[in-house]
Amino acid sequence: MAGFKVAIDGPAGSGKSSISKNIAHKLGMTHIDTGAMYRAVTLLAIENQIDMNDESQYHFLEDVHITYKDDHIYIGDRIVEKEIRSKAVTDHVSLVSSFPYVRKKLVEIQQKLGETNNIIMDGRDIGTVVLPDADLKIFLVADVRERAKRRQQDKQNQGYEVDIEKLIDEITRRDQLDSQRKISPLKKAEDAIVVDSTHMTLQQTVKKIIELIQSAKGVINE
Ligand code: DC
Repeated sequence: MAGFKVAIDGPAGSGKSSISKNIAHKLGMTHIDTGAMYRAVTLLAIENQIDMNDESQYHFLEDVHITYKDDHIYIGDRIVEKEIRSKAVTDHVSLVSSFPYVRKKLVEIQQKLGETNNIIMDGRDIGTVVLPDADLKIFLVADVRERAKRRQQDKQNQGYEVDIEKLIDEITRRDQLDSQRKISPLKKAEDAIVVDSTHMTLQQTVKKIIELIQSAKGVINE
């Protein structure tokens, strides 16, 4: 079907990006990870050594092109997949994404990307702000300890040991900042379907959301 749009929002570590990527591959859709875009701005702010608390310093965004394409995040033609996952970026991304100017610039890019056919976009404000007319909106949640356990497993797979309580603190802090900010906070859209993945594997969650996509498509086709 042409032009089907899926919005997936949810808190940090709920698995939105891995799940969206998986679904996109299975259904031949285009995936856009908007969190990666906020992370790219944060990386640039760190590299440019700006005063990160001063919103006017983010005007460097007038001269750089940030985009997400074929599962990669780009700053200009540089792929920054690894760099945006650093601790420094994770620690500052909630601050950076709280500035109206930064959000305005990225939402513009995201809405343009959203004009593509068959898209699955994940973030915090996709169903509420970026794609309010999405054909299906999912709000993906999971218990904080479970999200921390998954993060810990990811880190272990990369050869790092991380304390689970520290991860719980970091995720809880980010959830609070993201849901309490004034502009476009993390919030379930009224018409979003809640999927709780606490007791589901990644593949079970993928299957569940694919079923929801197929039934939403069925309704639209009727
Ligand atoms: O999904 P993630 O953890 O990579 O996102 C990083 C941060 O970016 C998150 O803490 C909040 C912000 N973000 C946002 O404000 N709006 C979005 N649509 C996506 C992410």
